[in-house]
Amino acid sequence: MNHYRAVKISERVYWVGAIDWNMRDFHGYSTNRGTTYNAYLILADKITLVDTVKAPFCAELLSRVASVVDPAKIDYIVSNHAEMDHSGGLAAVIAAVRPEKVFASTLGVKALGEHFALPLPLTPVRDGDTLDLGNLALHFAETRMVHWPDSMVSWLPGEDVLFSQDGFGMHLASSERFADELERSVLEFEGARYFANILLPFAPLVRKVIDRLPSLGIAPKVIAPDHGPIWRSDLGTILGWYGRWCAQEKARKAVVVYDTMWHSTALMGHAIADGLVAGGASVRLMSLKASHRSDIIHELLDAGALLVGSPTLNNNMYPSLADFLTYLKGLKPQNLIGASFGSYGWSGEAVGQVKEALEGMKVGIAHEGLRHRFVPDEACLGECVALGQAVAAKLAP
Ligand code: FEO
Repeated sequence: MNHYRAVKISERVYWVGAIDWNMRDFHGYSTNRGTTYNAYLILADKITLVDTVKAPFCAELLSRVASVVDPAKIDYIVSNHAEMDHSGGLAAVIAAVRPEKVFASTLGVKALGEHFALPLPLTPVRDGDTLDLGNLALHFAETRMVHWPDSMVSWLPGEDVLFSQDGFGMHLASSERFADELERSVLEFEGARYFANILLPFAPLVRKVIDRLPSLGIAPKVIAPDHGPIWRSDLGTILGWYGRWCAQEKARKAVVVYDTMWHSTALMGHAIADGLVAGGASVRLMSLKASHRSDIIHELLDAGALLVGSPTLNNNMYPSLADFLTYLKGLKPQNLIGASFGSYGWSGEAVGQVKEALEGMKVGIAHEGLRHRFVPDEACLGECVALGQAVAAKLAP
């Protein structure tokens, strides 16, 4: 497997990662455009590999390295992040390269030790440490919980490259390596989708990390993330998007998500959506039979309201709603108002259960909720429209 090529991203830095065209599930997040696992080779006096790739892609990484330098000449490996999409290949790469040293943050050393039996002791680096590469120096900044406890970024002054690990990344497989070679609308779509499904719970921390960069002397000309395209121009675009996403700025938009047994909860959802539209809101009506949980989270990133409809099945909310609400809870959405609704046949607990779940996530309850026994009649559908209008009236203009 010697046909892969490295891609030069600055005078002495090359992309040597892997493209995973067919990856469709990233721990519960539907990744419809695949992804890349980016690794970078710094051709300094001390030749350094920043991050590795997911285990099955090691040969691709080594082949790309070999297109510019004998992999056995790599002196150092830096692991910015212990998650296995970046560290799964570490043991095999160490075995192939036999580097002098492998560096990770203090928590990274611990986490990698808990994942793998590596053949050499790792060297911890701390926030603010500098690694001398001879003619260049690599600086480290911890970014704990962005998005794992071990996470850090590496900064290469002179080349002005920020190896930003998962930050500024997106799950997007492409033959193009640079953001300026891709459609802006695709970048914004996949960047937002990644932020919503991966970084959302840490949005305030992401903001702090970005705000801290200038005080560390980090002024990148190139942002080189661990997934998706590399930013070598127009960095203000991705930084601007991150500003909006970190703040969870909301449009006058509502997401109505529901599942349905005999179409009654669906009828209620459609009527609520009509009420929202009549009230001036933009609406996404999303059945859990048609939309993946990660599609819904993506839409929620800039939505101000969430309406959740569930039938009652054996005294409980419908299982698909439990899945969605569990996923949503973990992502800790902010700045949302919401309400619940649903049809039932016997006891009708689901609407109250959904409301409790929303309250548990600090979603502002905009309406006490609406439940209806069996098939909604005109009066019920009128109440649904009124519910939608009432919620729309509470959305910021
Ligand atoms: Fe791309 Fe958190 O791993």
